[in-house]
Amino acid sequence: MQKFKDYLESNIPNLDTIHPHYNSALKYIINNSGKHFRPKLLLSVVSAYEPFLIESSYKVAFALELFHTYSLIHDDLPCMDDSNLRRGKETLHILYDEATATLIGDALNTYAFELISTSSFRSDIKVELIKSLATNGGLSGMVLGQAIDLEFENRPIELKDVEELHRNKTAKLIASSLEMGALIVGLDSPTQKELYSFGIDLGLLFQVQDDIIDVTSSELEAGKPIGNDSEKNSFINIIGLEKSITYANTLADRLSGKLDSFDKHLRDSLKELLNVYLYRHKQF
Ligand code: IPE
Ligand code: IPE
Ligand code: MG
Ligand code: MG
Ligand code: MG
Repeated sequence: MQKFKDYLESNIPNLDTIHPHYNSALKYIINNSGKHFRPKLLLSVVSAYEPFLIESSYKVAFALELFHTYSLIHDDLPCMDDSNLRRGKETLHILYDEATATLIGDALNTYAFELISTSSFRSDIKVELIKSLATNGGLSGMVLGQAIDLEFENRPIELKDVEELHRNKTAKLIASSLEMGALIVGLDSPTQKELYSFGIDLGLLFQVQDDIIDVTSSELEAGKPIGNDSEKNSFINIIGLEKSITYANTLADRLSGKLDSFDKHLRDSLKELLNVYLYRHKQF
């Protein structure tokens, strides 16, 4: 079976256009990919129950990764986090210009939905997949989280509001990745909900870890500028490093316990992926 990374690299769109760098910008941003955490979550759920559906799930996993990549391109823009480095390389607006970065972000956002709508699954499943990505990634999910993140720069908010911010900004898309896997293999609604709520906690953990990485790792390790969150309502700025690590440990322990309560197929498949992630904050 093809690796997801190979699938991604061999499916970069190439448009017949007079635009001098539209295609190279797309290629640059898709080739320079990250950890593939969200597609791997989706694929882990699929491989737990229906390994023969993995091949056709790649297109949906690709959609998720491109949607996430769009969120990062916009996150790095001067009007947002103003960042010049992503995944160890120049950000798109530095390499080209802000208009190109904004538009390539827009293109990946909508292309994600095009990919899902042209995947090989039943139409009713595709509608549910599109709904999950739109609901969690858009107006009432990631976009809302980003809006709160930017609106409250230099204005500290309470811990419960930081959790709401992180839940929207990061956790919902991660929960959606698990939910989309569950939709593809047709898990019953209670199991889908259980996976979604597991994903919310996992996403919160993922963002606390990201906040920890901002103050404990090097630019080389992180592949992005560090110390970049000084104006943010990051966990670090609200409760400090030590309590953030305790918070991350508590979440990781809880998730580990939840994993053990899943049925064997799901537990084994998710554990293989999550072993690397649950305690990654301890590596830095
Ligand atoms: C970075 O996401 C942004 C957050 C939500 C914390 P990732 O850490 O998944 O970034 P890549 O895709 O691996 O570069
Ligand atoms: C961004 O969070 C989350 C997104 C929705 C893109 P951050 O701003 O903390 O992500 P990094 O640290 O730049 O990757
Ligand atoms: Mg940000
Ligand atoms: Mg950022
Ligand atoms: Mg960050």
